[in-house]
Amino acid sequence: MAEQVEIRSKDGSFQKLLKYDDRYYVPNFVGNVKDHLAAIDVMEVREDDTFILTYPKSGTHWTFTLVSMLRTGTTIYRGSPTFLDYTDMETLDKLPSPRVLATHLTFDFMPKQVKEGKGKVITIFRNPKDVLSSLFTFLTKLDHPDFLSRYHFKWEGLLEFFMEGETYCGSWFDYIQNWDKVMAEHRGNNVMYLIYEDMIQDLRSNVQKLAMFLGVSFGPDYLDTVTKKCTFLNMVTEATKAAAPSEQWKEVTKNKTLPIYRKGEVGDWKNYFTVAQNEYFDKVYNEKMENSSFDFRFE
Ligand code: A3P
Repeated sequence: MAEQVEIRSKDGSFQKLLKYDDRYYVPNFVGNVKDHLAAIDVMEVREDDTFILTYPKSGTHWTFTLVSMLRTGTTIYRGSPTFLDYTDMETLDKLPSPRVLATHLTFDFMPKQVKEGKGKVITIFRNPKDVLSSLFTFLTKLDHPDFLSRYHFKWEGLLEFFMEGETYCGSWFDYIQNWDKVMAEHRGNNVMYLIYEDMIQDLRSNVQKLAMFLGVSFGPDYLDTVTKKCTFLNMVTEATKAAAPSEQWKEVTKNKTLPIYRKGEVGDWKNYFTVAQNEYFDKVYNEKMENSSFDFRFE
């Protein structure tokens, strides 16, 4: 059973989270956490299911939008994905195929059938300094009483939580180490790895790779269109149109716009970190990432 915990930092930042089996979860995780994790474990997976696994702010919406366009053959903007973490099994079971589901859970928590090779998993990684800067902006845009009573973040405090692994999806460093292990041990060919910074540099070739991985056979014209539709500017435009899908994130911000899209750049962290904070971050990063196969670009 999950317990409620309140974590505070020296600068007065605080967050009220759920803790279960030594991991943190957001309060809107389904039920008591334990039962939903058990239900995910035995979930009936469909051959054409796609699971997008991310640490928050690493490009979940971007990947979801690309995959949806490639899975369905239509370039409609669909807003935010359905999350495995926040959606009960009955609702998930009723979703029409092809399902494109997102989650901030790690691969160990995926359904057994996925670990055995059924369905497809796509994960996107992003350098942690931009992840943290993006997370800070996102969290401080939330303005609903439910959020304000549970979370309050100043930059210094969030940095402290992030380095201690005390955020709603746990430690970014543990998340990456977990993937290093999966890369070494998972024997199926149903997992694809994307890098945010590579996508920024060359989206078109990543769209091509995604299409091949998903086994869809669209011609170059459609892949060109998907690439254009999924640029940062185009996604922002689509998200701000009156006809954009309504979703809870819009309702809980000050200006009622989707808080997901900010700058979509590599290196904006420089506008957040002080020199001392950056040196401290680098020291911890170098220690924790010493044996990792990941080599992130920060600019
Ligand atoms: P920034 O806050 O740095 O702009 P997630 O979907 O995992 O919550 O990630 C959100 C981050 O992905 C935000 O980063 C958002 O702008 C960025 N993003 C979303 N769509 C993008 C796109 N088409 N191109 C580049 N970045 C994108």
